[in-house]
Amino acid sequence: LLITPALAAAADYPQRPISLIVPFAAGGPTDVVARSLANEMGKVLKQTVVVENRTGAGGTLAAGYVAAAKPDGHTIFLHHTGMATAPAMYSKLRYDPLKSFEYIGEVVDVPMTLMARADLPPNNFKEFVDYAKANGDKINLANAGPGAVSQLCGSLLQQAMGVKFTTVPFQGTGPAMTALMGKQVDVLCDQTTQTLPHIKAKDLKFYGVTTPERIKQLPDAPTLAEQGLKGFDVKVWHGLYAPKGTPKQAVDKLNESLKVALKAPAFVQRMEQLGAQIVSEERQTPESLQKWLAAEVAKWGPILKAENISVN
Ligand code: MLT
Repeated sequence: LLITPALAAAADYPQRPISLIVPFAAGGPTDVVARSLANEMGKVLKQTVVVENRTGAGGTLAAGYVAAAKPDGHTIFLHHTGMATAPAMYSKLRYDPLKSFEYIGEVVDVPMTLMARADLPPNNFKEFVDYAKANGDKINLANAGPGAVSQLCGSLLQQAMGVKFTTVPFQGTGPAMTALMGKQVDVLCDQTTQTLPHIKAKDLKFYGVTTPERIKQLPDAPTLAEQGLKGFDVKVWHGLYAPKGTPKQAVDKLNESLKVALKAPAFVQRMEQLGAQIVSEERQTPESLQKWLAAEVAKWGPILKAENISVN
């Protein structure tokens, strides 16, 4: 392993296992990325990185917990687009995404997919549009609460389709997926990191991908935009954070270990299998994450307010 200056300078860190906080339930999309990442980062840091799921309020409880945690490099946080959308949805948050954290780097981008229980009558998106118009709020849409990307995607979908479903919130899309498999809910918009194995196994109905382009893992699967939802574009990005005030040498070492992890063959292969795209090297930096988050907060605020997507 190459010893870079940042790694050498931080030789006495970490001194004990590191907690990687995940804002959603175990077994779901964020958790899947976190566990692969923790494994690889732990090898570089020569300490165990322990994933801790702190669920609730669409990821905002975990963000508040991390913002208030001791800033010594032993608590880090993996979160997604929800870091940027939550401020527009909650009138009171115990943290400020732009002030309460140190930034370590961006991690992966993940497309979403629209899924339905195996026995929902529509067989494709076109049929689903007609079914949705006829059945409206009799359709149960699962999500992981306001601040979750499943909620964001589901809300944008209802707006675009001009329908209103009944939403059923869970502590993460892991449990939402269990409910969809168990036919307790009807529809779920979720990341490929959880849905791709189901799409391949054909044990759920699959109506399309949420990105403007088709994805390489599913070349024959049309996008929602292609099927009539012009301009529909939801892709989830993930970033790694630490509490504000975490020493620079710890942040640098965490960033170095993130960069090594993002090249580790086992991580690369797992992400490829799940449809997650590892971000380019330029995006694997604290500066890039900071700029990107600020741009995303600025982008989503007006959209969510205009579309009246909020909790309060
Ligand atoms: C999860 O990890 O459970 C999901 O990312 C939640 C979400 O939809 O944002």
